[in-house]
Amino acid sequence: MSKVGQFKDRMLSLGLARVSEAAALAAAVHVGRGDESAADQAAVDAMREQLNLLDINGVVVIGEGERDKAPMLYIGERVGTGNGPRVDIALDPLEGTSLTAKDMPNALTVIAMGPRGSMLHAPDVYMDKVAIGPGYPAGLVTLEQTPGERVEILAESAGRSCRDITVCVLDRPRHEDHIRQIRATGAAIRLITDGDVAGIIHTAEAHQTGIDMYMGIGGAPEGVLAAAALRCLGGQRYGRLLFQDMDERNRADKVGIADLERVYALEDMVRDDVIFAATGVTDGAILPGTRMTETYIETETLLLRSRTGSRRRMHYRHPVVP
Ligand code: FBP
Repeated sequence: MSKVGQFKDRMLSLGLARVSEAAALAAAVHVGRGDESAADQAAVDAMREQLNLLDINGVVVIGEGERDKAPMLYIGERVGTGNGPRVDIALDPLEGTSLTAKDMPNALTVIAMGPRGSMLHAPDVYMDKVAIGPGYPAGLVTLEQTPGERVEILAESAGRSCRDITVCVLDRPRHEDHIRQIRATGAAIRLITDGDVAGIIHTAEAHQTGIDMYMGIGGAPEGVLAAAALRCLGGQRYGRLLFQDMDERNRADKVGIADLERVYALEDMVRDDVIFAATGVTDGAILPGTRMTETYIETETLLLRSRTGSRRRMHYRHPVVP
């Protein structure tokens, strides 16, 4: 590969942070205002504008949806100036639109970038997921185990009682059985109304967030984004795509997925080195939300590189011109 076409993750990462930051700045004015679509639209517009300033030849592989359903940042959309490395982009300009509208915790703007072909082109369907943070033997908890078994195995490996384990689960009727089985072990559950990208990332910072494991069914695109973060932070995760009807199976076909039963490990979802940026929109366990005064808006961005395992926190104060 020529030098021009190389994925220079070190320099690109700073540009990526600005993209994530711009989406959060745009969403900030919508926090707590009850309008999910206005918040999402503002974040999408801002993210796209910044992304198109980067010297990359980018393709959105995880985006706002398919071309016919999403006017911008749709899957397959070309982004960047076109002058630069061929890269894949996975993004969610506002992960937790209703968290933002209701000013509830852990809404984020999220974006990951890697060389072309580095990330799974997951269709917009559900995914069954399990994730734990770093420091455990490979393959410790799997999708084949029951929720109760996962808690017991994790507790034993950590040398703790099940009562000292906290599992994060999306609060949905489909998880009633998971919740019953987890509670039967004595483990605690952190129920979240939305935002499983944050839920999964929180397992990698268990000392700070108190979350040891994430499990349950959420969006597949969010699953790939969370995998990109864990590739940088360490940790393990598995995912299996779930299809509700023929239309969803056809969507998998369109992105070249033939084995519909396949269990994807982290390395299958993110196959190469990536960079990852997330900016807090509302206050969360690892990132504070945006702060607005009459004269400025502040954001905090977490910027990660898998190649080096480096983590950078960028605090930004954006002057508001009257
Ligand atoms: P939005 O960013 O569209 O608000 O999605 C948030 C989210 O909670 C994801 O974190 C999660 O993976 C998915 O929605 C769950 O889907 P559903 O609401 O259909 O259960």
